Amino acid sequence: MTAQTIADPVMRVQGLEKSYGKLRVLLGVDFDVAPGSIFALLGSNGAGKTTTVRILSTLLKADAGTARVNGFDVAAQPARVRQSISLTGQFAAVDEILTGRENLALVAGLRHLKDPGATADDLLRRFSLSEAGSRRVSTYSGGMRRRLDIAMSLIGNAPVIFLDEPTAGLDPEARIEVWDAVKKLAHDGTTVLLTTQYLDEAEQLADRIAILHQGRIIVNGNLAELKQLFPPAKVEYVEKQPTLEEIFLAVIGGGDRSNAIGTTTGVHE
Ligand SMILES: Nc1ncnc2c1ncn2[C@@H]1O[C@H](COP(=O)(O)OP(=O)(O)OP(=O)(O)O)[C@@H](O)[C@H]1O
Ligand SMILES: [Mg+2]
Repeated sequence: MTAQTIADPVMRVQGLEKSYGKLRVLLGVDFDVAPGSIFALLGSNGAGKTTTVRILSTLLKADAGTARVNGFDVAAQPARVRQSISLTGQFAAVDEILTGRENLALVAGLRHLKDPGATADDLLRRFSLSEAGSRRVSTYSGGMRRRLDIAMSLIGNAPVIFLDEPTAGLDPEARIEVWDAVKKLAHDGTTVLLTTQYLDEAEQLADRIAILHQGRIIVNGNLAELKQLFPPAKVEYVEKQPTLEEIFLAVIGGGDRSNAIGTTTGVHE
């Protein structure tokens, strides 16, 4: 399946190459991302997902190829790209000593927002962290940290958000909370590029899924297209067993948290 060409993509990546010394990581990566969509970059450990995100977010220079984000060239117009994006890295960037509210207000202040406290309170509410907001982040669970991290990345209304493995290391319940937050972002019009090693995460979230393997995108399509690549060889009748994840969620009663993230709009236009 070849890369889809979109008439007016918010991101266009063409022929991206990157080596670290002799290690050739990206050998010619191409993809387009449509505005307001969730694009999942799937790949195993070391496939080059973080490398790609770092290039697109101007933290790293490519050896060859071009990438445009929100209409700006990452190599020629890095400042304009940085104004257009927000990046949540693979490892949470929250300050442990501060409270959740202080973390948010700090970033809002750095971004010169008029009322950092109000922005912080709004985001705490949207991410179901109001009660925890006055506690130090060092007391938060992994899921709470991740949600705070994503909330921080929303300050400033960037039209494009990069999430590098947003649910790595989280339990199923916390993953669903993060998924809800990400879905809501895209619903509000933000374009999301996320990386993941989890097939089910891509399946749950992504409008398009690209598989990065041995330096190239080997598959790029929506879920239905991907499934068509592997048509069932024969029809089998089996008793459907619940997945371990379904059992886990049923037992802990966390299956219906779809409204955990509030329905406030207004942070994004
Ligand atoms: N700064 C660096 N110097 C040397 N090698 C690096 C550097 N950064 C990454 N690599 C190597 O490049 C390859 C791709 O790394 P990258 O972090 O992009 O992979 P990834 O797909 O994000 O993996 P993971 O799923 O483990 O996060 C790996 O083999 C890694 O060891
Ligand atoms: Mg990575």
